[in-house]
Amino acid sequence: MAGAVAGGTLVAGGMTGQAHAAAPGTAARFQFEEQPFSWQPHILDPEECAVAAYDGYWHKGFGCGYGVFYGIVGMMAEKYGAPYNQFPFSMLEVGKSGISGWATICGALLGGASAYALFWGRKERDPMVTELYRWYEQTAFPIYNPGTAAKGFAGDLPTSIAHSPLCHVSVSKWCYETGIAEKSKERSERCARITADVAKKAVEIMNAKQTGAFVVEHKTPESVEYCGSCHGAGKESPIVKGKMDCAPCHSGSEHTQDKYNNHP
Ligand code: HEC
Ligand code: HEC
Repeated sequence: MAGAVAGGTLVAGGMTGQAHAAAPGTAARFQFEEQPFSWQPHILDPEECAVAAYDGYWHKGFGCGYGVFYGIVGMMAEKYGAPYNQFPFSMLEVGKSGISGWATICGALLGGASAYALFWGRKERDPMVTELYRWYEQTAFPIYNPGTAAKGFAGDLPTSIAHSPLCHVSVSKWCYETGIAEKSKERSERCARITADVAKKAVEIMNAKQTGAFVVEHKTPESVEYCGSCHGAGKESPIVKGKMDCAPCHSGSEHTQDKYNNHP
């Protein structure tokens, strides 16, 4: 332990997760990240985490980002106490509806990636995020069914594949394909179930990472391989950022054609 007691206060040094005792206004720049990504993960039961995540979605209306994050880190807090129980979990409410209603990244995916980032820096984490996000792009949701514990809508729900990690695409496409309104109990229930699905998958990935069994299983979409053969760092068009499936937005399908003209 590198901390030294001076005048009765613990001087900061090597105690990530503990109080830093520098007097207000005297902290050195960036001193608060001297041990980045240093929390230790635990193996969790994916099924148990899925239930917690589903309930977390409904808890005070905190939504998908909170649900997944609590379904992972909250479970460590319940089982192991500190430092996990020190996290201000409600912070993840920001992920609701794709970050404060903007329908950008699916908040459930934000919750999963954020949990990973407590334990792993980007070199370790990025492949884990890739596996989680690719799985999300390619999977028909929702899978989880809470049965009689359903809080929004009981019974089976129709599924769709988003081909995108974006809340906007994921939700709008599901509503289009099913004819169910975005503001409906069914749609909320769908997202609560996806919150459970993402927490379960995120924990399976974390468990595999901890036992050394983690591999990226989900394949890169054809579009990303093909378009990326020219659009990418060091290629003839070095201007494109990102790893998302290009097809939903650049395929010229009826969904992405001009809706400003000759449109009902
Ligand atoms: C054989 C190489 C090649 C492939 C494959 C390729 N592009 Fe391009 N693309 C280019 C070049 C070169 C430009 C123009 C240069 C620039 O803007 O950097 C371009 C321009 C674009 C533009 C700018 C607007 C336009 O239409 O000119 C978009 C959008 C685009 N590409 C998307 C895609 C997508 C999506 C794919 C996969 C379906 C793809 N490209 C595959 C080479 C390619
Ligand atoms: C979520 C939708 C979405 C996805 C996914 C997506 N793009 Fe785009 N992309 C856009 C939009 C919107 C623009 C800005 C278009 C404009 O300039 O008006 C853009 C811009 C571009 C441009 C710059 C040229 C231009 O027309 O502005 C290229 C090149 C491009 N995208 C290629 C790709 C490739 C390759 C992929 C897959 C690796 C991809 N995009 C994934 C929506 C998307």
